[in-house]
Amino acid sequence: MKKLIAGNWKMNGSLAANEKLIKDILAGLAQPACQIAVGVPSAYLAQCQALLAGSVIDLASQDVSAFEGGAYTGEIAAAMLKEFGVRYAIVGHSERRQYHGETDAVVALKAQRALGCGITPIVCVGETLAEREAGQTDDVVKRQLAAVIHTNGHCISEIVVAYEPVWAIGTGKTATPEMAQQVHAVLRAQLLAASEHADRIKLLYGGSMNAANAASLLAQPDINGGLIGGAALKVQDFLTIVGAAA
Ligand code: 13P
Repeated sequence: MKKLIAGNWKMNGSLAANEKLIKDILAGLAQPACQIAVGVPSAYLAQCQALLAGSVIDLASQDVSAFEGGAYTGEIAAAMLKEFGVRYAIVGHSERRQYHGETDAVVALKAQRALGCGITPIVCVGETLAEREAGQTDDVVKRQLAAVIHTNGHCISEIVVAYEPVWAIGTGKTATPEMAQQVHAVLRAQLLAASEHADRIKLLYGGSMNAANAASLLAQPDINGGLIGGAALKVQDFLTIVGAAA
């Protein structure tokens, strides 16, 4: 299957910086052999939709509401994201679980809202350092994914999963390719038990993926792409990762 390289810009950017970043990335892209997306702050969806129009890069949001619409101040509905050409919605990022109290059940609902509007949820799972050291990694990621499987049933083959060990995010500490593959294999087995089509689900790795380590991570059999934070804000690094996903 084609790999997916998705940037997660997090709460970075400005009108001027976004325009330069997108134009420079597009100028440096030859014929990419993988799928590419950028997850931009909601305020810039319209700007980035226009900048990406007709290009090979898809637009992603960094979140989506668990509600369909109505009196939910500050929330953005999946249907609204769809109007701005959003193809992917990141859901359950560890920063949202940690700072915004998102539970497994809320994340599962968010994935459901996205799917209901034809948006592919990129469901993030991952253990903290304390959980890894306590030998709980497999249990934690399986619990997080089980909620999404339970809520989304037969649609599960339409999701993307991102394994992002919390201790590797923004720290410069990357899981080794073997460590990442081991968790990806656990997730793949869980998905295969839920859906006979789960072999086509893309499993991304995220957490300090960069130009230097991308190729070895992406060479693992169950690593089908990357969710890139810091390196997605640097044109050459992002292009190198895209190149490594060929
Ligand atoms: P970094 O690549 O900056 O570690 O961030 C990873 C991430 O959280 C992507 O969603």
